[in-house]
Amino acid sequence: MKNTLVFVVFVLVVVGLLFSISGKRSPQIPNDTDHRAITDTTVCLGCHGPSQKYQRKTTHPPKHECFKCHKNKKIRRENRPS
Ligand code: HEC
Ligand code: HEC
Repeated sequence: MKNTLVFVVFVLVVVGLLFSISGKRSPQIPNDTDHRAITDTTVCLGCHGPSQKYQRKTTHPPKHECFKCHKNKKIRRENRPS
């Protein structure tokens, strides 16, 4: 019985650790007129690039392929070739 308890606690700790290192979820791209039509990430930087109007936080992950992390289901559905 005691061993079972120790094992359960161990599993919970491991799961908790994995969760805490899995990183923040990226916020979804807002579904508004500013964002809906954009397919080219260079457009994003016009607003979110360095020293632009809506600059990202300095803690933002350094990569620049926006769509790898930021998803918008609606955007992807609309741009799928039919
Ligand atoms: C015309 C200027 C403009 C362009 C271009 C633009 N954005 Fe935005 N973006 C904004 C503004 C303004 C907000 C804040 C909207 C709000 O808070 O409702 C925002 C918010 C966001 C957010 C949400 C942040 C949060 O905290 O939820 C993400 C993610 C984002 N933009 C990603 C992108 C990506 C990726 C692109 C390129 C596909 C892009 N944006 C292009 C102006 C722009
Ligand atoms: C490696 C994954 C990743 C990529 C690539 C990425 N982002 Fe983000 N982005 C995030 C995460 C995670 C957050 C949340 C950061 C936070 O809350 O501190 C975020 C937050 C944001 C926000 C909210 C405001 C802020 O400063 O936190 C905007 C706007 C944004 N990203 C725009 C973009 C744009 C534009 C691109 C492409 C040039 C891009 N992101 C590429 C992961 C990514």
